[in-house]
Amino acid sequence: MKVSLLVLFLLLHAPYCLSQSLGIRGDALEKPCAQQPLDCDDIYAQGYRTDGVYLIYPSGPSVPVPVFCDMSTEEGKWTVFQKRFNGSVSFFRGWNDYKLGFGRADGEYWLGLQNLHLLTLKQKYELRVDLEDFENNTAYAKYTEFSISPNAINAEEDGYALYVTGFVDGGAGDSLSYHSGQKFSTFDQDQDQFVQNCAALSSGAFWFRKCHFANLNGFYLGGP
Ligand SMILES: *[C@@H]1O[C@H](CO)[C@@H](O)[C@H](O)[C@H]1NC(C)=O
Ligand SMILES: *[C@@H]1O[C@H](CO)[C@@H](O)[C@H](O)[C@H]1NC(C)=O
Repeated sequence: MKVSLLVLFLLLHAPYCLSQSLGIRGDALEKPCAQQPLDCDDIYAQGYRTDGVYLIYPSGPSVPVPVFCDMSTEEGKWTVFQKRFNGSVSFFRGWNDYKLGFGRADGEYWLGLQNLHLLTLKQKYELRVDLEDFENNTAYAKYTEFSISPNAINAEEDGYALYVTGFVDGGAGDSLSYHSGQKFSTFDQDQDQFVQNCAALSSGAFWFRKCHFANLNGFYLGGP
């Protein structure tokens, strides 16, 4: 499976003029054909090739979740777990919102840490980060493996910790490897390794290790 993060350059400096999205993607496992789609890879396998909103079932057949599927970037199948492009939705939010998700799949949103955890438990995912600036310059970073608290019985208690490895440079640099192993932090759930509250200081939320915003190379999750 693959996951991707799509983020725009200059986010920290001009948030309302940038867009970013984060998605995941993976290879379909063999499944009974009647099974409901777990992710955008399954939607793709059903024959859909158009970018847009589809329903996936990361936590079981009775709980549909709308999500944006990127079916065009690098052969598609990307399940976008964060999308930002016009500043209409605030990403400076607390733990419960980041846990459960917020926004709308046809606009800006965050899919939710619990959904991400459940997805990455079920299949192996790649992660892709895409950045774009005002002049439509693009760059990306890819990671061959991505998971959220893979060995935790209770992922929330484990802090929805980030695991990424296998960096592939697409011009965006490696902003995530440094944070691998970290728990997720929001202003009301400070789980970073720093004396200060990085999420509050940055008006954002992320798998912060320290408040080394400069290391994030122009992208991070959360923020104004
Ligand atoms: C942002 O985009 C969404 C979805 O396209 C739209 O509904 C909303 O009006 C836009 N907001 C702004 C502030 O441009
Ligand atoms: C960037 O792309 C958008 C849509 O594709 C276009 O409307 C806009 O003019 C482009 N901006 C620049 C600076 O090329």
